[in-house]
Amino acid sequence: MASRVVIAAERLQVFRKLHGRKLSVTAIGKMLGVHRRYLAQFLDALVSLGLLRKDDTLYWNSALAEKHFITERTIFWTRQFSSECVEDFEGLTVLEAVLRSGKDCWSIMGKKKQSYIESMKRDPQHARDFTQMLYHIHKEDAKALADHLDLSGFHAVLDVAGGSGVMSMALARENPHIQACVLDIGPVCRVARELIKKEGLSRRVRTLAGNMYDRLPAGYDVVMYCDIGTVGMRPLRLAHKSLPTDGMVVLVDRFMSVDGTEPLDRLLRQFTGSWFGLETRGELVSNMRRCGFKSIKRRNIGEDVWMITGRKK
Ligand SMILES: C[S@@+](CC[C@H](N)C(=O)[O-])C[C@H]1O[C@@H](n2cnc3c(N)ncnc32)[C@H](O)[C@@H]1O
Repeated sequence: MASRVVIAAERLQVFRKLHGRKLSVTAIGKMLGVHRRYLAQFLDALVSLGLLRKDDTLYWNSALAEKHFITERTIFWTRQFSSECVEDFEGLTVLEAVLRSGKDCWSIMGKKKQSYIESMKRDPQHARDFTQMLYHIHKEDAKALADHLDLSGFHAVLDVAGGSGVMSMALARENPHIQACVLDIGPVCRVARELIKKEGLSRRVRTLAGNMYDRLPAGYDVVMYCDIGTVGMRPLRLAHKSLPTDGMVVLVDRFMSVDGTEPLDRLLRQFTGSWFGLETRGELVSNMRRCGFKSIKRRNIGEDVWMITGRKK
C-alpha cells in the first residue's frame, strides 16, 4: 500500500509541485485536484513515509523526496516510470494464477497488452517520455562505458537499438576519432536527434530509422547493443555478419548473475510480462562463441552493469 501511495504521489506530481515551496493543505488540494476527504490523510501518509515534512498546516518536500524525485529524476521519468508501475500493480493482482498456470498476467486478466514499441510508434509522446527517461537514467552507465571501452584502432560504432543515443554520445566525447550511428525506430530517432543536436554532436553521431532484426548496415567496425532486453542469437549473428574481420561486438546491460539470482528487479519484472531477458553473463558468452566471436571479455563497469566484448577474428 505504501508503494502504491508513493506512485500516486508521483503521478499527481506532488513533489514537483511542492519543489522549493511550503504550502497549506488547501493550496495543495487545489493544485493536485485531490478530494478533501482524503487530502490530509494522503499528505500525512507521505510525511510518515519520510517524503514530506509538516509544520502545523504547511507541507514541503523532505530532503529524500528532493533528492530522489527532483534532483535524480526528470518529468519524463515521473510520467513514464510511474505509469509502468501502475500497470505492474495491476498485473501483480493475479500473481498466484500466473505462478500456477505459467501464463502471462495479461492473458489471465483477458487483456491484450500492446508492445511498448507499437505504442511508441503510435504515440509520439510515449516515444518522447520513454527516450528522454532512458537518456537520463543511462547517463552514468554511458560515462562508465566510455571510461572502460577501448576504442583505439576503431572508427565507427553502430549503436543498435540505441534509443536516445546517450551511449554513443559518451563514446564520441571520449574518443574524438569516432563516428557513431544510433539505429532505432523512427519516433525514437526523432527524439535522439534533438538530444544529439543539443549536445553539439550532430556531425559525429547520426541516427538511422530501422529494425534491429533486419540486416545491419555495413561500414561499422563496432556493433553495440546496450540494454536491449533479450540479446538472443539473432542480434549476435547479424552483428557477426555485418562486422569486418577486425570488428568488435559490445554488449552492455545489467545482465543476470551466473547463478541467475541478481539483479532482483529483473527477476520480479518477469511476473508482469517484462520483455527483459534473463540470460546470464555465462550464457551470453557461450552464445557469442557459438556465433563465431573470439577473445570474449566480460567486465563489471559499474554497480551491476556489465560490458561483454567479442572480436570477430
Ligand atoms: C531500453 S531501450 C535502450 C536504449 C539505449 N540502447 C540505451 O542504452 O539507452 C531499448 C531500445 O530498443 C529499441 N528497439 C526495440 N525493438 C527494436 C527494433 N525491433 N528495432 C529497432 N529498435 C528497437 C527501443 O525503441 C528502445 O529505444
